Amino acid sequence: MRRVLVVDDEENLRVVVRSFLKRDGYEVEVAPGVEEALALLESFGPDFILTDVRMPRLGGLDLLATLKAKGDPATVIVMSAYGNVDLALEAMKAGAYDYIQKPFKAEELLLTLRKAEEREALRRENRALKQEILRESTFEEILAKSASMQAIFKTIAKIADYKTTVLVTGESGVGKELVARALHKRSARRGGPFVAVNCGAIPESLLESELFGYRRGAFTDATTDRVGLFEQANHGTLLLDEIGELPLSLQVKLLRVLQEETIRRLGDSKDIKVDVRIIAATHRDLHAETQAGRFREDLFYRINVLPIGIPPLRERREDVPLLVEHFMNRNNARFGTNIRQLSPEARRLLLEYAWPGNVRELENTIERAMVLAEKDSIEADDLPERIREARDPIQLHLTSGELSIKKTARVIEEILIRRALTKTKGNRTRAAEVLEISHRALLYKIKDYRIDL
Ligand SMILES: Nc1ncnc2c1ncn2[C@@H]1O[C@H](COP(=O)(O)OP(=O)(O)OP(=O)(O)O)[C@@H](O)[C@H]1O
Ligand SMILES: [Mg+2]
Repeated sequence: MRRVLVVDDEENLRVVVRSFLKRDGYEVEVAPGVEEALALLESFGPDFILTDVRMPRLGGLDLLATLKAKGDPATVIVMSAYGNVDLALEAMKAGAYDYIQKPFKAEELLLTLRKAEEREALRRENRALKQEILRESTFEEILAKSASMQAIFKTIAKIADYKTTVLVTGESGVGKELVARALHKRSARRGGPFVAVNCGAIPESLLESELFGYRRGAFTDATTDRVGLFEQANHGTLLLDEIGELPLSLQVKLLRVLQEETIRRLGDSKDIKVDVRIIAATHRDLHAETQAGRFREDLFYRINVLPIGIPPLRERREDVPLLVEHFMNRNNARFGTNIRQLSPEARRLLLEYAWPGNVRELENTIERAMVLAEKDSIEADDLPERIREARDPIQLHLTSGELSIKKTARVIEEILIRRALTKTKGNRTRAAEVLEISHRALLYKIKDYRIDL
C-alpha cells in the first residue's frame, strides 16, 4: 500500500488531490500546514509527501529540513505555483525528489508519483544488494571482499574448532589480532576467555612469570600466589602476539607446554593441566628467524601446523573502499558527523597508496581526514602528504617494493622523457638537450617506450 501525505494550505487542493489519489489506489492523509504534517508523520508513515513550497507559516523548505534532521525516508515532491519555480528548485537542492507546477492535471501528478515510485523501488533494490554484499564481506569483525581474505574466512571457519596451534602472520596492521579473535569466536571455546599477550612488550625477566604464574616465595617480590596467563586462558584461547620476540629460554618452555599441555608455576613443584588453544602471531618471517638462529626450529614446526598468512592491503586493494566506508560510518557515529562522500581524487589516492601500515594506517588516515574535512566529503587535501605524494609514479614504483635497479631506472627514464617532451612542446632537439642525451638516443627511446607525440 502506497501512502501519500498531502500538505497544502488551500483546502480545495487538498480535497481534490485526495480524491483522485484515492481513486488511483493510494492511501492518503492531508494536512493544512507543516506542523500538522509533522504530527502525522509517525502514525501515518508516508512513502511520499506532496507539499506546497510556500505556505503562510512554515513552508516546504522547513518541512524538508525537519525530515532530513529526523532521517525520515519519505520521498518529497513539492508543488509550486507559477512564479515560485526558484523556491521549487531550492527545495530540490535541499533533497526534494521532484516538483510539479500548479495548476496540474490529475494525470500529471500520477505520472510524477509513478516516477518517484520507480526510483524508490530501485533504491530499495540497491540497498538490499549493498546489504547482501556487506553480509558476504563480513566475518565476525573482519571486513573484506578480496578473494584472498575470503579464503581466510573459509579457513578460519574450518579450523576454528580444532585445538591445533594456529600461526597468524602478516605485516603490521593487517588484522592478525582480528583473525585470532575470529578463530576464538567461531570455536566451541567462545564462552571461555580470550587472552592476548604481546611477547615483545614485556621484559624478558617478567614474561615468564606473566605466562606461567608463580608460587608465593618463588622470588623476593612474590608475596602471594599468582595465576599466569596460561591458567587465565583455561578453556579459552591464548594469543601469543609477536611470538618472534619470545626469548630462546622461553621458547623451550613453550614447546614443553604445547607438548604436555601442562604448565608449572614458578617456584612450584607440581604440574597443572591446562586446556588452552594457542594462537601465535608475528610480523616476522619465522622460517628466516630459525635460519638465523633466533627462533627454535622445533618450536617453529610445532606452531606452523596451521599457518594463516594475511596479505598486505596493497595486494588486496579491492578491500580499500569497503574499509573506508566502514571507518567513515563508525566515525560518523562516534563524532556525530555526517561525512559520507569521498572526492574522486581522494578515492584514487587511497586506492593507489601502498599502505605500509596496512588497515591500521587506513583507519587512522580516515579518522584524521574526517577531523580535517570542511565539507561533508573527504577531499584529497584532507589526506596526509605522504599519500598525496603517491600521485607521483616514481613514488608509486618505489613503494611497490621493487628492487631491480634496471626496472626502476626505466620507470624514471620514461617519466623524464615525457616531462621533457611536454616542456619543449614536442621539440625533440630541445628535449634531447635538456635530457642531456643525443638526438638519436632520444628517438630510439621514444620508440622503445612507445611514447606518442
Ligand atoms: N579486515 C578488517 N576489517 C576491519 N577492521 C580491520 C581489518 N583489518 C584490520 N582492522 C583494524 O585495523 C587495526 C589493526 O588490526 P590488528 O590489530 O588486528 O592488526 P595486527 O596485524 O595485529 O597489527 P600489529 O602487527 O601492529 O599488531 C585494528 O583497529 C583492526 O580493528
Ligand atoms: Mg597485533
